[in-house]
Amino acid sequence: MPVITCIEDLKRIYHRRVPRMFYDYAESGSWTEQTFRENTSDFDKIYLKQRVAVDMTNRSLATQMIGQDVSMPVALAPVGLTGMQCADGEIKAARAAEEFGVPFTLSTMSINSIEEVAEATTKPFWFQLYTMRDTDYVSRLIQRAKDAKCSALVITLDLQILGQRHKDLKNGLSAPPKLTPSTIANLMTKWSWGIEMLGAKRRNFGNIVGHVDGISDAADLGAWTRESFDHSLDWDKVRKLKEEWGGKVILKGILDAEDAKMALSVGADAIVVSNHGGRQLDGALSSIRALPSILDAVGDKIEVHLDSGIRSGQDVLKAMAMGAKGTFIGRAFVYGLGAMGQKGVEEALRVIHNEMDISMALCGHRRIDEVTRDILLIPEDFEGRWQQ
Ligand code: GLV
Repeated sequence: MPVITCIEDLKRIYHRRVPRMFYDYAESGSWTEQTFRENTSDFDKIYLKQRVAVDMTNRSLATQMIGQDVSMPVALAPVGLTGMQCADGEIKAARAAEEFGVPFTLSTMSINSIEEVAEATTKPFWFQLYTMRDTDYVSRLIQRAKDAKCSALVITLDLQILGQRHKDLKNGLSAPPKLTPSTIANLMTKWSWGIEMLGAKRRNFGNIVGHVDGISDAADLGAWTRESFDHSLDWDKVRKLKEEWGGKVILKGILDAEDAKMALSVGADAIVVSNHGGRQLDGALSSIRALPSILDAVGDKIEVHLDSGIRSGQDVLKAMAMGAKGTFIGRAFVYGLGAMGQKGVEEALRVIHNEMDISMALCGHRRIDEVTRDILLIPEDFEGRWQQ
C-alpha cells in the first residue's frame, strides 16, 4: 500500500481510479466555482499561533456532537452517489466511521439504502433528509430512518433546487452511468472500479428506486430533484418535520445569522454552517468566513457545526478554535473511499486526526474542548462588516 501522509495523496489515487463522471461530480462547485475555491483558500488566510514549553502529554481530541461521544469532532457528511465512487461506498464509509468513533451521515441521495447501511453497521448513524413534494414519501423515509434507529435527522435546507454544475450536465451524470461512447471509453480505463462495481449490492439510488413513483428517470439526479423536491419548503414545514421525527435534528445549510435564529426558534439541536461545498449558491461566502457572525447570533444557544472546505486537521482545529462544536468532511472522505474503499476512509480520518492532534499541541493545548480563538490570527477584513 502506498504511504498516505495527507488528503492530497488520497485524492491523487482517487482521481486515477474512479470514472471521470463521478470524480467530476465530487470535485465541482456550481457555476464559476468561486465559493467552492474560497471554502478552502479562506482557511489558509487564518494563521495558528505557536506556543512553546507547554506540557503536551495526555492529549485528547475526544468530545461530543449533539450529546454523542466522538473520538474527534469530525462527522462524515452526507454525500450523494457515494456508492458510485466505490462499490457499496456508503456501507464502507459507515463502517470506517464506526471503527473510528465518528458519526456517519447517510444521504437521501445515497446508493446503498438506509436498510442496507443499518444491516452492515452496529452503531446508529445519522440520516440526511431532502424534502420532496410527495409528503407520504417523506413520511415513509422518516419512518425508515426511525426503524433503522438513526440517532439524528440532518435536514438539508439549501437544496430545494439543484445548483448548476457544468460538468455534471456535460458528462450526463447518472447512477448507474449511461453507456455513451465517451463514458464507455473512460470506463475502459477504470477496470478495477468496474470489477468491484459488478459485485456491488446496488447501483441505483437505494432510497428512491422502488419507493417512489412519478420520476421520469430515477437514474438522473437533475430530473429527480426538478420533479420531486419541494420548492415551497419553509420554516413551518421544517418545524413539522422536526415534530414528525421526534428526535435530534440538525439543520444543514445555514449561512446567514437570521436563518440561524430561525433554526433556533424551530428547536433544532444543531446547525451546520454550510454552503453545500460550494455546490449551490456560487458567490456566497465561504463557510469559515460566515461562521463568526453566526456564532455571534446563536453560538451560546445552539450547537454550531461547520462543513465546506475542510481538507485537513488544521482546518478542523481552526473551525473549533473559532467556536464551532463540530465539523463535517465530504470530499476528504470521498477521496479516501474512491482510492481504497473502507481502508481509504479510515486513512482520511487518521490523517485528519494526526494533523489536528499535532497542530493543537504545537499551539499549546492538550484538549480540543479547551481550544479557543486565542490560538488564531484572523485577518482584519475576514470578519469585516459588509455594506447593506
Ligand atoms: C447533492 O447533495 C449534491 O450536492 O449533488
